[in-house]
Amino acid sequence: MGRVDGKMAFITGGAQGLGSATAMMMAREGAKVTVADINGKGAEDVANQINARHPGSAFAVMLDVTNEDQWKQALAAANDAMGGINVLFNNAGIGGGTTVEDTDFETFKRVQAVDVDSVFLGCKYAIPYMVPHAPGSIINTSSIAGLIAGHNMAAYNAAKAGVWLLSKSVALHCAKRGYRIRSNSIHPTFIDTPILDGMMARGGISRDDLKAKLARQVPLGVVGDPDDVAYAVLYLASDESKFITGSEIKIDGGISAM
Ligand SMILES: NC(=O)c1ccc[n+]([C@@H]2O[C@H](COP(=O)([O-])OP(=O)(O)OC[C@H]3O[C@@H](n4cnc5c(N)ncnc54)[C@H](O)[C@@H]3O)[C@@H](O)[C@H]2O)c1
Repeated sequence: MGRVDGKMAFITGGAQGLGSATAMMMAREGAKVTVADINGKGAEDVANQINARHPGSAFAVMLDVTNEDQWKQALAAANDAMGGINVLFNNAGIGGGTTVEDTDFETFKRVQAVDVDSVFLGCKYAIPYMVPHAPGSIINTSSIAGLIAGHNMAAYNAAKAGVWLLSKSVALHCAKRGYRIRSNSIHPTFIDTPILDGMMARGGISRDDLKAKLARQVPLGVVGDPDDVAYAVLYLASDESKFITGSEIKIDGGISAM
């Protein structure tokens, strides 16, 4: 038996990185998945890879998570394609590595739009689709940077902290309404995905050197693999976590214990 047999998952930012790794793992464990991304071609490629192994289990949709109308269209399409939605993984996000003084207002607003407005829109418009297919689970990607600040992460800290408490508000709302929909946040630290490309470019160093530098900040001494995050999402999406809502999982190799 798959751990998420019968689940129907909508995954944003699914064209690469943590989103694609999670889509592949969820499909392997029995779920249908809709891979949503602003990179529509990338989303299709991931869905095709999944369908090659698990025929008929993956669908792709183009979605800019900052666009309210596109959310409505994408969720309606996913609902039709999968026969419902009962897992929402709000994963799409962008980084931001500048101080409050060095961040221009447009950049600040863009990071809020992609990283936290998207979570609001996703929850708001997916919940009505999820209620008839409960039990359901919402998993929102914050970051360890949503819990611990850095001097040069003004916009990212603000957005990811917002995701953390928004997830709890959604959890309490769904519980109060008796929806049987849970909501939790995940908080990764450095994971080896294409998001590191921006840090490589800014630091002018190779991927291996960057990973070694980042690993020195992690008590376990390594950066994470995408599957380290995907396993946490799989658990939260499955009914194994049926008593967990309004909570958070840190996937940080021990950083936040210091
Ligand atoms: N990788 C890490 O070290 C790390 C650590 C903590 C948190 N996170 C968070 O995890 C999530 C995924 O990160 P990743 O490492 O896989 O990043 P990534 O850059 O590899 O992938 C992000 C995906 O989101 C998509 N995307 C970007 N803007 C979008 C938009 N407006 N609409 C729809 N899709 C959009 C991109 O096309 C891409 O496919 C992000 O929210 C990120 O902040 C990552």
